[in-house]
Amino acid sequence: MTGNKAVAYKGPGKVELIDIDYPTFELKDGPGVNPANVGRQVRHGAIIKTVATNICGSDQHMVRGRTTAPTDLVLGHEITGEVVEVGPDVEFIKVGDICSVPFNIACGRCRNCKERKTGICLNVNPDRPGSAYGYVDMGGWVGGQANYVLVPYADWNLLKFPDKDRALEKIMDLAMLSDIFPTGFHGAVTAGVGPGSTVYIAGAGPVGLAAATSAQLLGAAVVIVGDLNADRLAQARSFGCETVDLSKGGPAEQIEQLLGVPEVDCGVDAVGFEAKGHGVGAQEAPATVLNSLMEVTAAGGALGIPGLYVTGDPGGVDEAAQKGSLSLSLGTGWAKSLSFTTGQCPVMKYNRQLMMAILHDKVHIAKNVNAKAIALEDAPKGYAEFDAGAATKFVLNPNGYLS
Ligand SMILES: NC(=O)c1ccc[n+]([C@@H]2O[C@H](COP(=O)([O-])OP(=O)(O)OC[C@H]3O[C@@H](n4cnc5c(N)ncnc54)[C@H](O)[C@@H]3O)[C@@H](O)[C@H]2O)c1
Ligand SMILES: [Zn+2]
Ligand SMILES: [Zn+2]
Repeated sequence: MTGNKAVAYKGPGKVELIDIDYPTFELKDGPGVNPANVGRQVRHGAIIKTVATNICGSDQHMVRGRTTAPTDLVLGHEITGEVVEVGPDVEFIKVGDICSVPFNIACGRCRNCKERKTGICLNVNPDRPGSAYGYVDMGGWVGGQANYVLVPYADWNLLKFPDKDRALEKIMDLAMLSDIFPTGFHGAVTAGVGPGSTVYIAGAGPVGLAAATSAQLLGAAVVIVGDLNADRLAQARSFGCETVDLSKGGPAEQIEQLLGVPEVDCGVDAVGFEAKGHGVGAQEAPATVLNSLMEVTAAGGALGIPGLYVTGDPGGVDEAAQKGSLSLSLGTGWAKSLSFTTGQCPVMKYNRQLMMAILHDKVHIAKNVNAKAIALEDAPKGYAEFDAGAATKFVLNPNGYLS
């Protein structure tokens, strides 16, 4: 039988490589699997040999012990791979296809999927709408930071790359289609970015840098990225963004120095609930980003909020935050008629178009996020360096495709 090594969560601050079963066309019981999903038949699924599988800031929330993720949960929702087996109900996807796997698991049959709201599919997670591989409260689908992974509803979920050789040439860019590139793009689109926009993006992690890349692709006049991490700000400047250093204080004054006004047309939260406050030695202050975006976004503007917010956080700064309640200055947002878009990015809404932009050299997302391939065995080191704030998007290479 084919072996399958995988990256598992082993308690706060710890991930390890473990041996797991090679997937079959059934969702078996295991850590984090919802009882109602146990034994679910996946005749519509495909087994993928991973070509690339990335570490994400969303994984870090779990690994830092900031969620209720169980020990031994197999991580990994950013998956690109080669199809090695298809279930009996798969019609169009074929063995040998190289595909991007949207991190949202979606059925293609429910009311929300029919409206392309694949981040809130109703049929894949008995806990709540929306699902993902290798994630707490997402139904228990096994993560893809492994040699092999099962993808349900393969005909619907998989985005096949048109040409295998060309795909492998651009694979580090295409590997960003499973999550951060569409997620950043969704952040920019829902913030209303278009030709000539001025944009402020909070967070210079991979999602913030992907949002900045997307804002440029959408024709923004000025893209400003804010963070407290100097290396990540330098990475944003490397592809033409302006930056604000939030360790020196809030964004409004620094935006005014750049634009002549303390306001932008569009605001993006690429940080989420583990946000720090502003200024020297700032501590965690989870409402900081949302409140400062409401302050700096011009009246009538919009906030794209890909940054993740939770309903339970054992490490929250106070009792309210532990239940996901934040002290928002909603009155500011209301008075300015701001719009908000939250939630999982519906990857399928954007991934094909962004794939075409990559294949035709219109965008260089891997360079902009500083994507770096590392061995599966080096995942613990990758997680630690990413957690320490490296200006790098780590891409695991479990089967040697990324040599
Ligand atoms: N909505 C979705 O579908 C989706 C998909 C992927 C990731 N996410 C979420 O997006 C967020 C970003 O992901 P990432 O991989 O870039 O994570 P990351 O942790 O690498 O980056 C977050 C960055 O925010 C910075 N930061 C902290 N406080 C700040 C503040 N007040 N203002 C500006 N920057 C601040 C940090 O220094 C860090 O560089 C995470 O919350 C992640 O869970 C959501
Ligand atoms: Zn992700
Ligand atoms: Zn659905």
